Amino acid sequence: MKPFPTHIPYTKHFISEKDIKEVNRVLKSDYLTTGPEVKKFEEAFASAIGRKYAIACSSGTAALHLLALCVDDAKNGEFITCPLTFVADANCAKYVGADVRFADINLDDWNISVESVLNIVNPNTKAIVVTHYAGLPADIDKLEKFCNDNEIFLIEDACHSPGATLNNQNTGTFGDASIFSLHPAKHIAVGEGGIITTDNLDLYEKLLRLRNHGLESWQKRSGYLYDIKELGFNYRMTDSEAALGSSQLTRLQDSLTNRRRIAQIYYENINWDFFTYQKIHDNKEHAYHLFPILVPQKISREVFMDYLREHNIGATIHYPLINKLSLYRGSSDTTPNSEDVGSRIVSIPMYPTLSTKEIEYVVEVCNSFNS
Ligand SMILES: Cc1ncc(COP(=O)(O)O)c(C=O)c1O
Repeated sequence: MKPFPTHIPYTKHFISEKDIKEVNRVLKSDYLTTGPEVKKFEEAFASAIGRKYAIACSSGTAALHLLALCVDDAKNGEFITCPLTFVADANCAKYVGADVRFADINLDDWNISVESVLNIVNPNTKAIVVTHYAGLPADIDKLEKFCNDNEIFLIEDACHSPGATLNNQNTGTFGDASIFSLHPAKHIAVGEGGIITTDNLDLYEKLLRLRNHGLESWQKRSGYLYDIKELGFNYRMTDSEAALGSSQLTRLQDSLTNRRRIAQIYYENINWDFFTYQKIHDNKEHAYHLFPILVPQKISREVFMDYLREHNIGATIHYPLINKLSLYRGSSDTTPNSEDVGSRIVSIPMYPTLSTKEIEYVVEVCNSFNS
């Protein structure tokens, strides 16, 4: 089969004429850094997701760092996450002096296993970070009560899953707080950016201070001077990024519709006797940030990825397992399911502007492998 005439990446952002107009409008305004557009974006995002408050910041990683700073007694405590997620979920523990523990994943949906979390949780557990892998909700609902009862801070990493639902409830509304990334690969792409959602007013106010060096907002200061009581950072978002975010937020449903349409074509046409897909349980709706598939155990993943690349199709591994990275090697937690899935997983192209020709070509190339 001939290579596709143009490269088909695993992901691609989309900027509309309206996005450009919105950013241009803000560039001509009085605000180059945080101003009214950030507030507007936060309000629109919180309302779209279904939480009371949203705090926009400079990246998803900054969002995780800010939340880790809000975990009581984190230093010398432990954070639990799983190996099959982005490394920022583990790094945020290290930023605040906590150790990282690894729960395993489920073999069917490749999400963090609640059973495995409960096996390693202990009095030193201060936080649990749950990612909805690829956009498919994890069973975070099963951890909420446990975390509340045991004073464990529950961070929902919804970077992959804006618009996904668990028991008809939006992801981004579970746990103490949720984070989203606005990196170009994500549903809403501003370049670098992140946003936190929460229903907790005290947490919201603390996050606003920590995002801005520990400063109280102007409205809360008395007189011309300011004071600082806690160590914060400059993790602010700019108004032009917020305008881009607001404009893209209005297209979130379109993005989801297209991603789900593409997934349906993959489900109906890829040879699933050979490859394996993520199992979606009935109480969940996928947001398809990624479309990961597993190659059979007997096949070399690298050979399959080389084959895709020879055909001009970008394929990527999400993710190299965190507990196999040099910084995290040596953990005593055993994660056999992560090792199995992590050694066979490949993300094939998934983004809303994939054309029918491109989707059909990806299917054809996958199915022609090994035949
Ligand atoms: C699951 C997950 N968590 C956290 C992050 C960090 O977000 P950012 O790249 O915006 O810092 C990402 C982004 O790649 C992610 O995919």
